[in-house]
Amino acid sequence: MMSPFTIAIDGPAAAGKGTISKAVAAHFDLAHLDTGLLYRAVGARMLQGEDPIAAAQTLAAGDLENPDLRTADVAQAASKVAVIPEVRASLLDFQRAFARRSGGAVLDGRDIGTVICPQAEVKLFVTASPEVRATRRLAELSDNGFKTDFETVLADVKARDDRDMNRADAPLRPAEDAVIIDTSDLDVEAAIAAAVAAVDARRRA
Ligand code: DC
Repeated sequence: MMSPFTIAIDGPAAAGKGTISKAVAAHFDLAHLDTGLLYRAVGARMLQGEDPIAAAQTLAAGDLENPDLRTADVAQAASKVAVIPEVRASLLDFQRAFARRSGGAVLDGRDIGTVICPQAEVKLFVTASPEVRATRRLAELSDNGFKTDFETVLADVKARDDRDMNRADAPLRPAEDAVIIDTSDLDVEAAIAAAVAAVDARRRA
């Protein structure tokens, strides 16, 4: 059995974590878990009237297939349920087990390097300015047929940053040994190349 090899990728909303994580997982042939989806699935069930703690405790694979998980409303709901310690605790074991699966894994989220996998072999913190992130998110939402504007998206990004960084339990922050990748001035290819280079450098060290 190959020894587990975990890459933790954290950062704020719309910094490019998702794209980078998928590409890094494909490059190194590792499984990938977008942990934001877990919080989004709980948030979606809260929006349907369920208690978020009960939703987190009974989360099932089918909840992750909900086509609404990418909407702005679900993103805000995810960030709200993510403040609740019982919700975070319910999702912990699944994430840790995924991280140590044989063959290795990439997990992306907010607290992977700090709380979920402090022993991860490689930690990246992917960030960008709020304006750049809002511009990218606006383009993504427009591509998916959602009508909105820059100011609304920027306000959403900042509200989520504020909630994610200032909560008491597992706030968003770089692990001490994380490599910071600021994608503000990088295109997709350059951002992926920077991440792959950072992983290679850590693996050699
Ligand atoms: O990565 P995302 O935008 O899909 O995440 C949605 C929300 O879920 C995010 O605003 C905060 C929460 N989240 C978290 O608290 N911890 C994680 N590891 C991943 C996401």
